Formats: sequence, structure tokens, C-alpha cells
Amino acid sequence: METLYERLDGGIALLRINRPEARNALNMAVREQIAAHVAAMTHDAELHCLVIAGTPKVFAAGADIKAMADAGASEMMLRGSDAIWQVLRDCPKPLIAAVNGWALGGGCELAMHADIIIAGDGARFGQPEIKVGIMPGAGGTQRLTRSVGKFKTMKMLLSGEPISAIEAERMGLVSEVVPDDEVLDRALALARAIAAMPPIAARRIKQLVLTGADMPLGAALAMERTAFELLFDTQDQKEGMRAFIEKRAPRFVGR
Ligand code: CAA
Repeated sequence: METLYERLDGGIALLRINRPEARNALNMAVREQIAAHVAAMTHDAELHCLVIAGTPKVFAAGADIKAMADAGASEMMLRGSDAIWQVLRDCPKPLIAAVNGWALGGGCELAMHADIIIAGDGARFGQPEIKVGIMPGAGGTQRLTRSVGKFKTMKMLLSGEPISAIEAERMGLVSEVVPDDEVLDRALALARAIAAMPPIAARRIKQLVLTGADMPLGAALAMERTAFELLFDTQDQKEGMRAFIEKRAPRFVGR
């Protein structure tokens, strides 16, 4: 099995890329499996957060170079791999990347499709595509620029040099760095904490952060206000505020 998928308690699921012999390179089978699991999780009312991880020494070493070395432009287009990334872009539920070891090329881009990145202190991030004669093709030029700005992005993309987890955290590419052997536990604990939150509010927060970033500020703020007001029509808003006033834990139902 090139990916391993588990539903866990607490409304979360764990998806692991499992091609350590190829450093978890993202061949078409792996990408299709990731997309299928993300799509299934999106439509599963019991699941509220997905953790995507690799193996202990590598998150993912990027697109499978051996599978594309001899391909032409039309063939790359016909493979339709962007439709697979689109499934991740469209996922309305929170995604957490748990990164141990290398996150390179498409692997770094996969992590950047997540909403939160938890990295081990030995993790390394990079976009080395230029070293094999190409450039990022799954969002690297855009997502990295939006996360860390032009000058850090240019250095990473033009030199192909990787950066450490600490540097990634300092520049805003990583949410949190923990010891390597605590990455998965921390990511799963965070996923469970998020899954226990009111799911409609979580979806709206994700939607506003992502879509608002590409909109003019005034329009994004207006959209935020509308979403904020609409949450007052949910049972979970009533429950959350009553529970606070009554000094008890809330019981959210996702409505
Ligand atoms: N594609 C295909 N095979 C890969 C691979 C990749 N991206 N990365 C590693 N492998 C394979 C190697 O070819 C090797 O296979 P064999 O045993 O058959 O020789 C095996 O995995 C082990 O690799 P290494 O011996 O290199 O392992 P290492 O631990 O010494 O180094 C590494 C690990 C630093 C990740 C190194 O393998 C590496 O630099 N990989 C390539 C990274 C890269 O260039 N990624 C960008 C790909 S292009 C892309 O991602 C485009 C995009 O934006 C979508």
C-alpha cells in the first residue's frame, strides 16, 4: 500500500504516504490515493480534520522524477495532475501536515496545501525543482511567496537549497516545530482539538482565511462580517455561548 488511511477516534483521520524506498515520491498512484481520501473525508460527516504524514525519515521528496523524466509537455498536461491538487484546494475541512524529514518539491507543496504544518526539528523544506531543470508546478511559486514573501521565496526557488524546520518556522512556513518523535502525536492532538470545535465555524474560518487572502481587503472584510453574522443562526453558537455563561463544557452538534 503506497498510502495508509486510518479513521481515528475524536472525529479525525490520518493519511500516511508510504513509499519510503522512493522517499515517498508522489507518483500518480499516491497522488490519486491522497485525492480520493481527501474527497472521502470531505463528505464524511463524522470526520472534521485530516492529518497528512509521511514516514519517519521523509514526508515526501516531491513528484516522482523517474515517472516524468521522459515525458513531453502534452503528456504532462494529459496526466491531469492539477485536478488532483484541486481536490486538496477545495477541501473545506482543516488539513494538518505532520512533517518529518524531507519535504521537497511537490512534497513541500503538499505540506503547503495543508492549513497547519507541524514539523519535526530535523525536518527540511525545499523546492529543488530547478536542479532537475524544471520549476515548481503545484503552487510553489505562489503559495511560498504568499507565506514567506518574495525574497525568501526567490532564494529557495532559484538556488534549490533546502531550509531547516527552525528557519521555516522563523519565516512563517511552519506553524510549530516539535522534537521529531513528537510530530505525529502533536499533529493528532491538535487535529482532535480542532475536531472538537464547532465544525461550521471551523469551515468558515478556513474559507475566509483562504479566499480572503486573494481579495481586496474591503471585500474580504465584508465577507468576513457576513460569515460571522450567519454563525448566529447555528445551534453551536447558542450552545457555545450558553455553555460559557453556565460555566460548563459545550456540546457542539455541527448545526
Ligand atoms: N522521484 C523519484 N525517485 C526518488 C525521488 C523522487 N523525487 N526522490 C528519491 N527517489 C528515489 C531515488 O532515486 C532512490 O531510488 P533507488 O534506490 O532506486 O536509486 C531512492 O529514492 C533513495 O533516494 P536517495 O538515495 O537519493 O536517498 P537519500 O536519503 O540519500 O536522499 C533526498 C533523500 C534528499 C530526498 C533525495 O532523494 C532527493 O534529493 N530527491 C529528489 C528531490 C527532488 O528533486 N524533488 C523535486 C521533484 S520535482 C517536483 O516535485 C515537481 C513539482 O513541483 C510537482
